[in-house]
Amino acid sequence: MSPARRRIRPLVLVLGLTVALAGCDDQVKRVPWFKTMFRTASVRTYETELTTPPEGTVFFGAPRHYDLLAADTLLTNPLQPTPEVLERGEVLFLQYCVMCHGEEGAGDGPVVGENRLPPLPTLNLLSDRAMNDLSDGYIWGMIANGRGVMPPYRRVPHEDRWQIVEYVRELQTRSAGGAPTGSNDTQAGNE
Ligand code: HEC
Repeated sequence: MSPARRRIRPLVLVLGLTVALAGCDDQVKRVPWFKTMFRTASVRTYETELTTPPEGTVFFGAPRHYDLLAADTLLTNPLQPTPEVLERGEVLFLQYCVMCHGEEGAGDGPVVGENRLPPLPTLNLLSDRAMNDLSDGYIWGMIANGRGVMPPYRRVPHEDRWQIVEYVRELQTRSAGGAPTGSNDTQAGNE
């Protein structure tokens, strides 16, 4: 064998092996028994009717979604502002709301300011509107749906959203109590 041929032989071998192996996939599919591994019986999305639950079963657990209007008009707050509720509400508020609405809810979170989130009046959860015009259900609905820059917080479970609502109410009560009216101010100055 000439030296040139000897050098070419391993190359031809490797080439042959590559071609043989590349064909393998198709060969496997030709064996009927293997085919089942590639083509299984499956139902694709929307291919069949949705299954209806058997008669007599009761809808349980799965929470319904309420848009803002529905939450505002249909939902009532099931919680009372107990210490436990407020404690949990504070944890959640500090986790999900504080960056935009601020620690006290005044709309001055760290992401609000020049070249950042514009300080919209609705960001202030201590405004007259937020205190007097927004229902508990509406605030719950804002958490569930978000609006504009505010993202929806569906990952906060239904029940937990009421705890946040209670905590927002608590912040509002605190700010109302801590801010004396003009006449009180004068009185305090006179004393
Ligand atoms: C990424 C920033 C951001 C986060 C986080 C955020 N919000 Fe907001 N929120 C906004 C903005 C912006 C508005 C004003 C939206 C508008 O007026 O359309 C707003 C408005 C609101 C309003 C007032 C709506 C109205 O009609 O006056 C409430 C109530 C509210 N948010 C509650 C919350 C609560 C509770 C959380 C935490 C679960 C939260 N937000 C988290 C940005 C945020």
